[in-house]
Amino acid sequence: MKTEKNQDELEALERTIARHERLYRAGRSEISDAEFDELLELYSAHADAAGLPPKRRLDMQIESDHTEGFETVAHRVPMLSLEKLSSSRRDAQGAPMALAEQLSLWYARRRKDLELSSGEPLALFVEPKIDGIGISLVYANGQLQRAVTRGDGRQGDDVTAQVMASGAVPIALVGISSGTLELRGELYWPHAAFSAYNARLEAEGARTIANARNGCAGLMKRKDPSALEGVGIESFLYQLAYSDGLDVPTKQLETLDWLASLGAQVYTQEARRVESAEEALDYCEAYAERRRELSFDIDGMVIKLNNLHYYPALSGTGHHPHWGIAYKFPPERKLTRLISIALSIGKSGKVTPVAHLEPVSLAGTMVSRASLHNFVELERKDIREGDQVYVEKAGEIIPQVVGAEISERPPGLPIYTRPEVCPSCSVPLVSEDIFIYCPAPSCPDQLRERLKHFASRRAMDIEGLGESLIDQMVEKLQIGSPDDLFLVTPAQLETLTRMGKKSSENLVRSIETAKSRGLARVLYALGLRHVGEAMAEELARFFSSASALLGFAERYCDGNDEAIGLVAPAKSGARGAIEGLARKSADSIFSELNSEAIRDVLRGLEDHGVLLSVVEPARKEVLGIAGKTFVLTGVLPNLKRDEAAMQIKLAGGKVSSSVSAKTSFVVAGTDAGTKLAKAEALGVTVLAESDLLALLDARNTQSDDDP
Ligand code: IVH
Repeated sequence: MKTEKNQDELEALERTIARHERLYRAGRSEISDAEFDELLELYSAHADAAGLPPKRRLDMQIESDHTEGFETVAHRVPMLSLEKLSSSRRDAQGAPMALAEQLSLWYARRRKDLELSSGEPLALFVEPKIDGIGISLVYANGQLQRAVTRGDGRQGDDVTAQVMASGAVPIALVGISSGTLELRGELYWPHAAFSAYNARLEAEGARTIANARNGCAGLMKRKDPSALEGVGIESFLYQLAYSDGLDVPTKQLETLDWLASLGAQVYTQEARRVESAEEALDYCEAYAERRRELSFDIDGMVIKLNNLHYYPALSGTGHHPHWGIAYKFPPERKLTRLISIALSIGKSGKVTPVAHLEPVSLAGTMVSRASLHNFVELERKDIREGDQVYVEKAGEIIPQVVGAEISERPPGLPIYTRPEVCPSCSVPLVSEDIFIYCPAPSCPDQLRERLKHFASRRAMDIEGLGESLIDQMVEKLQIGSPDDLFLVTPAQLETLTRMGKKSSENLVRSIETAKSRGLARVLYALGLRHVGEAMAEELARFFSSASALLGFAERYCDGNDEAIGLVAPAKSGARGAIEGLARKSADSIFSELNSEAIRDVLRGLEDHGVLLSVVEPARKEVLGIAGKTFVLTGVLPNLKRDEAAMQIKLAGGKVSSSVSAKTSFVVAGTDAGTKLAKAEALGVTVLAESDLLALLDARNTQSDDDP
């Protein structure tokens, strides 16, 4: 059923996913790939519940790894990804589907597609799924000609020089001196080489790399290939994507042996041919136990039909071929004692239960604290202090309690009861949806969290202002609001523990520097509900100044039609002028902005010299764009129109809304209407988005900056 709540949650998730995808593309990932996958899975589960067509969901999974400065090369055969067996999949009636059921269904469909009678065998081949980066290798006459990343599946980045320098794949194939071959596989960084590289970074005082897969991807995009020499990147090759002029194997098992005979590293030892879906799943599950002993990361198993002759007959979805499916390992789970349930208070007053555990080793780290999500979950699972509880890591990162082992419950453990008053300020708590809030803005724990968020790197980025200093400033210097930070003197700071003259002066200097971060950062730093970085940027771009924004918030809260119309236009289903802002979030955002508490903080910030207008990004004129007038029309494949306009303006061009003889270029997307016709009639040059990007790209190739 399509409920309002589902729709809201879906939109919020879509925005979150899109944001993480943008960050990933810009090389600034904030979450791991596994966490990103989890978001996608969560999205799929919601989309199922909302009855969305599958295409919309699958489209979201296409991300590109393109990096500026690398040549884009089209893949001869698309580099698709595999459909996954998913623990969140449900059947048509909404009931959860076991992995065994999903795999049997997949296997039965393949048998049907191939019109196999019930007695005819259909062998499967199961291989580890390497957690690395996919690579396509083209060999001509046995010599490596080109190495290309997966990219968006249709085209990727040329990383030939990097791959050659890494020594990860054969440069010349043994015994092949004619024909063309395209081999595919995975580049990965074995644990030992990865740790050695990190040890070197640490010795040099440089920041270490958190994750081998991302590290490997990052190294492949280093402009200077010599950075890849001797770092120990390796590969496993598993697929022959194309061949011409050569006799090639017809079974997957033979392909691996053949690839090994050409000098490639393969994992024949770890792969298995099986005769049924059940056997395939058994092998996958057994392998989950062994994965921690391996010298490299795998994140699941891949199940393929062994007979390659069947592949062309099977087609696929455009995103996934039908000849294979991926199995993801379930997260490691441990049982430990829940010592106590602590309460944590967030910056917006949300009170959440946190588990204090008897320390337990889980997926590589010792865990003593874990999330209990919220009180509704806690009560539903009847988790009690003193219970033996199961702990897992979500996305291999965040520990969480998934349930209690009731059979091991000591007699007489009392049922957990929700707190009624705030543990920090004793004010009665209030419930909203499934959450509980402390409603007192002056609550000391809330204040500390608000200040931590305000000073954090992505917000006002006040260097040197860490947690313990904030605690002391609240207690000893009576800092009661973010704007108070701008009044602190070095003499006051010197009275705090571990603060000398120099460090106090440095901190005051960092606070001073933070004054010029601009409106978007200030809005994000205020920690308003529903205002993440993207929304803060959108509000700043739309209103340009805090006074315009506050004026609007007042009109909106007064019920002014024009103001409300900007958020929710009369036409049903239409989006408001403020990008990504749903009516429900708008009500919350503008009433919070209109509150006396936030107005006070903004007034204080302004009085203390904090910039409350937008910071214009630096302009860098681009030949071919500077001085020219552009008109944008139709839907562009990648850029939003206002993004394209912003890029043109930053490159020194002008953007106009109507076509005339003075227009230099019309950039036309799909569904371009009269403007395109007029441009053609006037003989104005029409560009596609890719032409505009190529013009803009001149700017990037002129720059020496590494990505
Ligand atoms: S077969 C359609 N075999 O896992 C692509 N892929 O979605 C099928 N991977 O991005 C490729 N180990 O890069 C295959 N043994 C293996 C693999 C493997 C890792 C990656 C591949 C792809 C993803 C599957």
